[in-house]
Amino acid sequence: MSDFNATITGVQGWVPEHVLSNKDLEKMVDTNDEWIRTRTGIVERRLLKGEDLATSDMAVECVERLISKTGIAKEEVDLIVFATVTPDMVMPDTANTLCDKLGLENAFGFDLKAACSGFIYAITVGSQFIQTGMYKKVIVVGGDKMSSIINYEDRATCIIFGDGCGAVLLEPTKEQIGYRDAVLKSDGSGREFLYITAGGSKKPATKETVEAGEHFVIQEGRSVFKYAVKGMCSVVEELMKRNQLEISDIDWIVPHQANKRIITSVASSLKFPMEKVTMNIHKYGNTTAATIPLCLWEWENQFKKGDNIILTAFGGGFTWGAVWITWGYEAG
Ligand code: UT7
Repeated sequence: MSDFNATITGVQGWVPEHVLSNKDLEKMVDTNDEWIRTRTGIVERRLLKGEDLATSDMAVECVERLISKTGIAKEEVDLIVFATVTPDMVMPDTANTLCDKLGLENAFGFDLKAACSGFIYAITVGSQFIQTGMYKKVIVVGGDKMSSIINYEDRATCIIFGDGCGAVLLEPTKEQIGYRDAVLKSDGSGREFLYITAGGSKKPATKETVEAGEHFVIQEGRSVFKYAVKGMCSVVEELMKRNQLEISDIDWIVPHQANKRIITSVASSLKFPMEKVTMNIHKYGNTTAATIPLCLWEWENQFKKGDNIILTAFGGGFTWGAVWITWGYEAG
């Protein structure tokens, strides 16, 4: 280990223009605006439209802006860690495609698949490369084109998800800021509640699997909801306990945006004030790996240097966790 820590020195988000509102969904499935708002907090979500447009295309828009905003040169980027469950293709990795499309000639990259916890896993992985002293400029991306794996005839899933992308730049620091600690968990027995049946090595895609819609997400929402609240509360508490942090030491909680009721339940269990919890689910829905960096992007101007921020997520796998960061700059 070197004596450097990894800190976020810039954040950027990008969402597609096309809006799919609750009213639009009323025309597609048996649902209504009132049910969606009260059960999830979602009002609209963004969808990536356009032939051949994929997750990497959202990341190109996002990372190009991040690079120009932070003023680094493309040649300086060492590594891209790309959290996604909707890669452009099963292979190669979307990170490789992104490096090529952006001309990041000196970077290598790989995808990381941990569903809605993808970003918190990925920022942990990216930070290690800086803390060891191996690399100086690591970009962590969370991006998903969920509309590519959602069945718009299934009201249990199509009302929730949206498309989007967020990214952060990690750089070394000698200050007491940046990535501090994480509690990360997974439990494969949760795979029966949130999954895609076909398209993997267990059940490769065939004409029959496609006709049966087995390439779409299946979710047993009520069970996932319960595990999500319990899981996120317990990792946040474990993280705080082992770092002797009190609730009053935490300035912000940035939770995965899956359901407004999950977020408010977690905050209430932790006795944490909602005005210090980031929430933009009403605009974007659940963008899987993108929710946390999209929140960091939208709250960047409110964060102050030295703020203690906890990122927490729960998702398919099951995967879940919490990451403690100390914010390193004032954007305003
Ligand atoms: O991000 C990855 C992890 N995912 C999550 O964290 C998602 C966790 N789960 C959830 O957010 C919620 O479970 C959902 C939003 C998916 C569903 O909300 P719910 O309050 O758990 O609803 P439910 O599935 O228990 O269904 C309640 C009722 C049912 O009707 P009956 O049986 O009570 O008559 C459903 O058929 O609501 C009905 N329903 C709907 N009604 C209108 C289910 N979906 C809809 C819908 N519109 N879209």
